[in-house]
Amino acid sequence: MIRCARPNAAAPTASCEFREGASAPFFLAHDLLKKRLMKALTYQGARDVRVETVPDPGIQAPTDIVLKVTSTAICGSDLHLYRGKMPGLESGDILGHEFMGEVAEVGSAVKNLKVGQRVVVPFTISCGDCFFCQKELFAACETTNPGRGAIINKKDIRSGAGLFGYTHLYGGFPGGQAEYVRVPHGNVGPLAIPDVMPDEKVLFLSDILPTGFQAAVNAGVGKGSSVAVFGAGPVGLMSVACARFLGAEKIFLVDHHQYRLDFAKETYGVETINFDQVDDAAAEIIGQTDRRGVDGSIDAVGFEAKGSTIETTLAALKLEGGSGASLRQCIAATRRGGTVSIPGVYGGFLHAFLIGDAFDKGLEFRMGQTHAQKHMPLLLEAIGNGLLKPEVIVTHTLPLSDAARGYEIFDEKKEDCRKIILKPGLDR
Ligand SMILES: NC(=O)c1ccc[n+]([C@@H]2O[C@H](COP(=O)([O-])OP(=O)(O)OC[C@H]3O[C@@H](n4cnc5c(N)ncnc54)[C@H](O)[C@@H]3O)[C@@H](O)[C@H]2O)c1
Ligand SMILES: [Zn+2]
Ligand SMILES: [Zn+2]
Repeated sequence: MIRCARPNAAAPTASCEFREGASAPFFLAHDLLKKRLMKALTYQGARDVRVETVPDPGIQAPTDIVLKVTSTAICGSDLHLYRGKMPGLESGDILGHEFMGEVAEVGSAVKNLKVGQRVVVPFTISCGDCFFCQKELFAACETTNPGRGAIINKKDIRSGAGLFGYTHLYGGFPGGQAEYVRVPHGNVGPLAIPDVMPDEKVLFLSDILPTGFQAAVNAGVGKGSSVAVFGAGPVGLMSVACARFLGAEKIFLVDHHQYRLDFAKETYGVETINFDQVDDAAAEIIGQTDRRGVDGSIDAVGFEAKGSTIETTLAALKLEGGSGASLRQCIAATRRGGTVSIPGVYGGFLHAFLIGDAFDKGLEFRMGQTHAQKHMPLLLEAIGNGLLKPEVIVTHTLPLSDAARGYEIFDEKKEDCRKIILKPGLDR
């Protein structure tokens, strides 16, 4: 089979395949009625993801677009799914919420996008019109998630925004680790990218760059600030890059993967602390900040933090919502009146949340999913001006067909992996 250019509107699911050897272009009538097929990375169970052949997406609403994916990345958030730590996934669900590509189809109500245009898509699906979108709280959009959301004590509150490839709690939207993906609300999310900017430079506008930026802004970072970042994964590294961009003077970065710390020291000039080598990273930070602590800290780890065997065991028994090891370090490392910023994902409850320490120090807490759409234009400009270079963290570029191996490498921190990009085009 050969795939021809996709029709740009109407009858989106009709096939435009023709058979090699037939007198081309010879479209068989039954092919026009048959759904087209594509490759996509699907979840099958804990640590079992596979690239499979699945039906192509099509336009379902006038404001939809269909994107031909050129680059997509694996996120630390995908690792929570991969490890089977998040409820609400079904076998066969397509993963992936960091992606970009070329517009393949546009719905009749999409105004500013044309077929063939390159765009980056934010991971939160937002309508642009509701109470929250009007306030630029795009991750809180109250109209896009038909799922229940993740709040335990929910009452009758509406769910926050739907997310691509992130469980049925967040709407069960097929993700973008695929050849094609349907993008709802094409007028609100996708950001047009100038042709001169290669995918690697702009792909992380979809999530981790705005996430690092929002984390640094939430931590109160400004000119001359001190900040401690826990976690030197892609989100921690983007938080560090954005803290520098915002003028931070002193940045501490904590992790136990020395290769990630070494990279950050060399690239961003941070003070590094390896928690396998230092008894207590927060105590070290306090010692280096005149016994006050830092102005702000960023928890770029979340509920799978290393360092508390008890919590990790209780979490496996579903008696605890995860490990609070990183969060407790943030609270301890932050000065009185400072801010703890939490981009790392948490779900449910933590028993050992030191509310008394936070109260005594008068700390502020800011957290949550990133309002990506709000930050993307400014960050695109900063990339264009050479002030941010998110592409430097990429270590692996693989064809989509190698996605399962990519998950394994990223999960197990093999081959000094920092960030993996998957390119469906390398298979074509
Ligand atoms: N808020 C959002 O919108 C948003 C967006 C993207 C990712 N995230 C979340 O951000 C977190 C990080 O993502 P990532 O892609 O960087 O993942 P990652 O798994 O690659 O990185 C996490 C890093 O934390 C380190 N770590 C583990 N325990 C630690 C501890 N106690 N102290 C310090 N470091 C510790 C690990 O060694 C690892 O290097 C995840 O929870 C992810 O779900 C949130
Ligand atoms: Zn992500
Ligand atoms: Zn909305």
